[in-house]
Amino acid sequence: MRKNILILPGDGIGPEIVAEAVKVLELLKHEGEDLSWSFGLLGGAAVDAEGSPYPETTQQAARAADAILMGAVGGPKYDDLPRELRPERGILGIRKDLGLFANLRPALAYEALAAASSFKPEIIAGLDILILRELTGDIYFGQPRGRRTNADGEDEGFDTMHYARSEIERIGHVAFQAAQKRNKRLCSVDKENVLDTSRLWREVMTGLAPQYPDVALTHMYVDNAAMQLVKRPKQFDVMVTGNIFGDILSDEASMLGGSIGMLPSASLDVNNKGLYEPIHGSAPDIMGQNKANPLATILSVGMMFKYSFDRADVSARIEAAVKAVLAAGHRTGDIALPGEAVIGTREMGEAFLLAMKG
Ligand code: IPM
Ligand code: MG
Repeated sequence: MRKNILILPGDGIGPEIVAEAVKVLELLKHEGEDLSWSFGLLGGAAVDAEGSPYPETTQQAARAADAILMGAVGGPKYDDLPRELRPERGILGIRKDLGLFANLRPALAYEALAAASSFKPEIIAGLDILILRELTGDIYFGQPRGRRTNADGEDEGFDTMHYARSEIERIGHVAFQAAQKRNKRLCSVDKENVLDTSRLWREVMTGLAPQYPDVALTHMYVDNAAMQLVKRPKQFDVMVTGNIFGDILSDEASMLGGSIGMLPSASLDVNNKGLYEPIHGSAPDIMGQNKANPLATILSVGMMFKYSFDRADVSARIEAAVKAVLAAGHRTGDIALPGEAVIGTREMGEAFLLAMKG
């Protein structure tokens, strides 16, 4: 059956890296995969063209698509806009609108990049962690929130951390099932010593455990988890946590692999419809300069095939081609050692296509 993909290049380096990922889709289509795609606007690009970071046309296309590939959103040009018009509202809006509650952020240490990491090789060699971040709840969306003047006439800002039992249960099930398919260890991260939200979180995770007797569940406070991730990262297999803790820990974990420029992500709804994006963001400082690493976006296409199209064979082929490209010594600036030859976004895309063709 034909798969319809909505492509949202977004802002900053988004259009450049997405262009290389589209070449991968073209190759797969040429080889016989039944794919079609169209382009849409999200983030600052959508604000510029339509006055909204998640305009109606994009909403309709996103609801109709089988999967979505996104580049990145945001940039200094938009920093002074009111919150409702910020590019970030585009990505938060599409996550909420489509119910993309399960965010999968794998952190892998590529052998060829060990020397480019700021960690000692023995700390990260063979590292393979999956961070599962809840994506549509927590302090990101809790009400009430806002600004006000208090009784003393002082300005206040406030947000609400909030989780309902059902929200924790559904990400919990995804996490236990992901652990079952991996090394059967699940670490749930919370702040149960301080937060009521976290007490409920831990209670629910503990309550689910008997349904997954083959998975070893542990709990860790988020501050300790941040420390353990850099101290002994290989102790983790799957980590599951809420929206804000997952935002922070997944950026931290991305550096274990050497570069944030290598990591893809998937955001899934209950039916595994997903939005796929590199986790690195829009990098406005290098936009339009043919410097960005397109591999995280290309790996995001791989995750799309694995999770939304049930085609682990295609994702395995894409992962193998990435390893081949790295083993052959191709490096964009973010993964190069001092003195190593650096190639551009387009050249990396070309090298990848050659590796795919074998
Ligand atoms: C991410 C980003 C977003 C988030 C921003 C752009 C709203 O940091 O996907 O991790 O905080 O979720
Ligand atoms: Mg983030």
